[in-house]
Amino acid sequence: MARLPLGVSGMLLARLPRAVGVLSAVNLVVYNDNLLQHADLDRLLLPRALRERAGWTEAAQLERMADEAVDELRRLRSEHAADHGRLSEAVVALDEWLRTSDPEHLDDPDFPAERKQAIVQVLHRFNQGVLAYRRFFSVLAPLLRSAAAGRRGPVRVLELASGSGEFAFALAELAAKSGIAVEVTGSDYVAEHVAAARRKADARGVAVRFIELDAFDQSGLEPGSYDIVFMAQSLHHFTPGQLALVMARSARTAAVGFVGIDGRRSLALFGIVPMAGVLLRSRDYIHDSLITLRKFYTESELELVARIAVPDGFVSVRPELPGYSVVTVCG
Ligand SMILES: C[S@@+](CC[C@H](N)C(=O)[O-])C[C@H]1O[C@@H](n2cnc3c(N)ncnc32)[C@H](O)[C@@H]1O
Repeated sequence: MARLPLGVSGMLLARLPRAVGVLSAVNLVVYNDNLLQHADLDRLLLPRALRERAGWTEAAQLERMADEAVDELRRLRSEHAADHGRLSEAVVALDEWLRTSDPEHLDDPDFPAERKQAIVQVLHRFNQGVLAYRRFFSVLAPLLRSAAAGRRGPVRVLELASGSGEFAFALAELAAKSGIAVEVTGSDYVAEHVAAARRKADARGVAVRFIELDAFDQSGLEPGSYDIVFMAQSLHHFTPGQLALVMARSARTAAVGFVGIDGRRSLALFGIVPMAGVLLRSRDYIHDSLITLRKFYTESELELVARIAVPDGFVSVRPELPGYSVVTVCG
């Protein structure tokens, strides 16, 4: 890939956070996920889905219900778009056209592990560039503080799909600086990511543990064995049905709750995220980031999946600047 002079790419990288901020603001105006109001969600989807709930704890049933409900939500969104004017109709049509189920390299079992590792390292550099770890910590901090209140031991945090492991390290460091005692465990289903993160922990002399764990299979974890289960930038790796299973299982594993953060579904991010791959000179990252943007969930979809996954739980979904969506599920 053609190389940009280091000075130029450094300058562009330094401007990334501001560019992300500007594009996010544009995005809030142009991209509209509010075509369906919450009342529509309740009226049109949930009663039907919940009526069919008998036996929903069967994994296959839960998975199918979430898949069907999200399909229905997307169909209704397209149907309602025209009521909100030509611009909304065009944006929704473009957004639906962009949607894909193509796999990322990260999800391809035959893709070489060392190239997967290179991708998660580039993602780490992107995360640093946009100050993502501070943002993720600020999202978790209120929950960490309330879990820490009135207890003796540290707050036990399990990060699913931790990739490079760098947020797990940042979380331990930022929590210590904020006076919150935490015990952080990172996890991933790619053994090589876990091994590399363990080597980093040893080299840095940091007490962050890493385990090999498939987010679907938390059967080896006792209910409540962690306080908070967290997943960053990986919700889109799962189909709606798979995500419902991950949320339901995480809400069981977590004594306090599950928090998921992912990129906000938006057209504006197409101008930013792949650019990082160009600046950081990674074709594989560009490939995966383009697919990622086409797979992100809207906030209505995240809310629907969470409410199906944990029907009696507390669910909250909100946008987070500069370009994230946050879902919290407490069982
Ligand atoms: C886009 S990366 C995100 C890495 C890290 N959370 C971050 O924000 O930098 C997606 C990660 O999800 C992991 N992953 C995908 N499916 C998984 C599963 N079923 N269980 C555990 N990890 C999974 C991949 O191995 C990869 O490390």
